Amino acid sequence: MDKTQHLQDLQRRAEAGGGEERLRRQHEAGKLTARERIEFLFDPGSFHEVDKLVTHRCVDFGMADQVVPGDGVVAGQGRVDGRIVYAFAQDFTVFGGSLSETNAGKIVKIMDLALKMGAPVVGLNDSGGARIQEGVLSLGGYADIFLRNTLASGVIPQISAIMGPCAGGAVYSPAITDFNIMVEGTSYMFVTGPEVIRTVTHEQVTKEELGGALTHNATSGVAHFSVPDDRECLRLVRELLGYLPSNNVDDAPRRETTDPADREDESLERIVPASPNQPYDVLDLVHAIVDEGAFLEVHRHFAKNIVVGFAHLAGRSIGIVANQPAHLAGTLDIDASVKAARFVRFCDAFNIALVTFEDVPGFLPGVRQEHGGIIRHGAKLLFAFAEATVPKVTVITRKAYGGAYCVMSSKHIRTDVNLAWPTAEIAVMGPEGAVNILYGRELQAASDADALRAKRVEEFREKFANPYVAASRGFVDEVILPRQTRSKLIAALAGLETKRDRNPPKKHGNIPL
Ligand code: HXC
Repeated sequence: MDKTQHLQDLQRRAEAGGGEERLRRQHEAGKLTARERIEFLFDPGSFHEVDKLVTHRCVDFGMADQVVPGDGVVAGQGRVDGRIVYAFAQDFTVFGGSLSETNAGKIVKIMDLALKMGAPVVGLNDSGGARIQEGVLSLGGYADIFLRNTLASGVIPQISAIMGPCAGGAVYSPAITDFNIMVEGTSYMFVTGPEVIRTVTHEQVTKEELGGALTHNATSGVAHFSVPDDRECLRLVRELLGYLPSNNVDDAPRRETTDPADREDESLERIVPASPNQPYDVLDLVHAIVDEGAFLEVHRHFAKNIVVGFAHLAGRSIGIVANQPAHLAGTLDIDASVKAARFVRFCDAFNIALVTFEDVPGFLPGVRQEHGGIIRHGAKLLFAFAEATVPKVTVITRKAYGGAYCVMSSKHIRTDVNLAWPTAEIAVMGPEGAVNILYGRELQAASDADALRAKRVEEFREKFANPYVAASRGFVDEVILPRQTRSKLIAALAGLETKRDRNPPKKHGNIPL
């Protein structure tokens, strides 16, 4: 065989993965192959593979005879919408995509390169975990990856797509990355599987119930997105990258927009219902304000009482945090606090301005919340907003009650521009609760307690349930008409473009974990 033929033969073997039969099974399972996924992810023809000819070094368990060039992972660099992105795709057709010493080395190599170049890393996970035949070498490989995930956190965006099994300690790489996307029906994540659970705790559970896409999106909050198939997963990775800078020094790409900066939306005038306890969908508000109404919601199925996600305003990428009155009246509970805190910290790490829409009656009361640690979890959100040094703008649309007023990016925790609608109510608590406490004795003695309560509630509402006390103190910079919100936000963000703020020098803060 001449030298060219030899090279072509090696490349053909690398591209053949685990062989026709296993590739067929991969397709039958509704999954694309590792190479097809890479092709879908990147701009056509832009991918450059590294280490295509790497092989494992294991000689035990008959492995010396089973050698596939590439060793079960496709790794390299390409372009997404013209920008450099590094990626690896585990190849389930080669030893179940299991992680060996050498295939971990390939992943580590592109992570190191990505960190050096300041480019995002995308991991396409589809693996049976540590390669059993390699013992501690594969465990060490995982730990090498975990270290890179940790060091790269906050420096370059890291996105994990779970497109098959991801079990055991392997889950901790996606867990450290910024976003997890799970494919419905074909992906699952768990530390210990149904078999072990049955033996240890006698619980009966299916793989899907334990760690499928729905479970991790809606219940555990481990995953941020759920998608119906591989193609949608890869399309979403591209879309998500479009909102993000390549690293913590660059700005996110500006997006062309034809949406006028001074566009006023009359529907915003009617969005807050006349009755203070009536819910509304904050997503209607978000869509009416942002460029072209395009909002990429993150963690959509988890802690629905708070909404987080990305949008653009006048072409600038922004992170939105919004209380959702349509769920649990928009109260802050443990899950909502943790969800929003992580999002705020992501935006802060990557210079993405934060826009907060506030309508919050307070923290969710209850024994479960208190015993579950709402104190330390709620503190995460407070800590995250307070330490964030990116441009911060808040719009109070209705309720800003109690501690939640302070937490939700108030002026007091260094928010740059605080706006309020005339419908804003800023108080220590809602009028009904306040009246019961302040006038309890008087109400008990009254002949017509209901009429007196209604009168006192009205008085309280007049005095406190408005934005004007806060505006008179400068805690609210401006009371604006709802329809002006888009133009006011765009002007505020333009004014904050040169913001430079720093926290005191320290190794790192001690966020209440
Ligand atoms: C070596 C593996 C493997 C592994 C699968 N294969 N997992 N080879 N090491 N970990 C191989 C199989 O032998 C098989 O080879 C091929 O991959 C496909 O596997 P199947 O079992 O036929 O596929 P399927 O029925 O779809 O089941 C997939 C699976 C199962 C659920 C992932 O393979 C499985 O349970 N694997 C072991 C999972 C596991 O316990 N891993 C260790 C977890 S602990 P052939 O030649 O037949 O195609 C861990 C620790 C990480 O990962 C530590 C971090 C600190």
